[in-house]
Amino acid sequence: MRLVLLGAPGSGKGTQAAQIVSRLNIAHLSTGEMLRASVASKSAVGCGVDAIMQRGELVSDDIVVGIVAERLQRDDIKAGYILDGFPRTVAQAVALDQALADRGENLHAAVELKVVAHDLVHRIMARAAQAKANGENERADDNPETFTLRLQAYETQTAPLVDYYRSKNILKSVDGMQPAGAVAAAIRDAIGA
Ligand code: AP5
Repeated sequence: MRLVLLGAPGSGKGTQAAQIVSRLNIAHLSTGEMLRASVASKSAVGCGVDAIMQRGELVSDDIVVGIVAERLQRDDIKAGYILDGFPRTVAQAVALDQALADRGENLHAAVELKVVAHDLVHRIMARAAQAKANGENERADDNPETFTLRLQAYETQTAPLVDYYRSKNILKSVDGMQPAGAVAAAIRDAIGA
């Protein structure tokens, strides 16, 4: 099964992706995680994207499409995968469609997690507080100012993908404001697996 998970920052993409991959035994491809790993390793890509991510802006399509294309070469995606946080622009979605078509594959569903902005910022700040309480590093973009810019990037650049996938008849919209277990159950129903 090949899935795309769409949703604003803090909507629960990472939380739900983790549940789906362990249930379906498929790979979890999070572009945010891949980019943060590049930053942590101080690779050339990481050094180039660090400031962009800290500002809450989107990394360029070329870089992200390249990272995903490379990741799709690995063997662990053969049983399927969930793309968490990719695509995030129409150009990325078109590039993904092309990569899938080249492999004779398709997407089974694009799942949209719907959560209102007020709850999103609370979740992000709760995550930052929890990291601090655990003595862990907070994410550099988990603060109210950067969150506002991340949400703007979502609304202007990523939200159009809802219509993009609706027009392909693979959009499944799920109420992401329920407790995480109820969201997971709604996703199971929506994708039929
Ligand atoms: P990315 O890492 O993808 O971050 P994001 O989209 O901002 O999403 P988050 O990780 O903050 O939230 P989430 O939706 O995964 O929610 P989570 O499950 O963690 O991207 C970071 C940056 O990388 C981007 O800003 C951009 O710069 C760059 N980037 C990444 N991909 C890119 C791309 N394709 N193109 C260009 N740039 C890209 O949950 C959040 C919190 O809420 C947690 O504490 C969780 O426990 C809690 N929670 C989850 N579900 C629930 C629930 N149902 N009820 C209550 N609390 C809940």
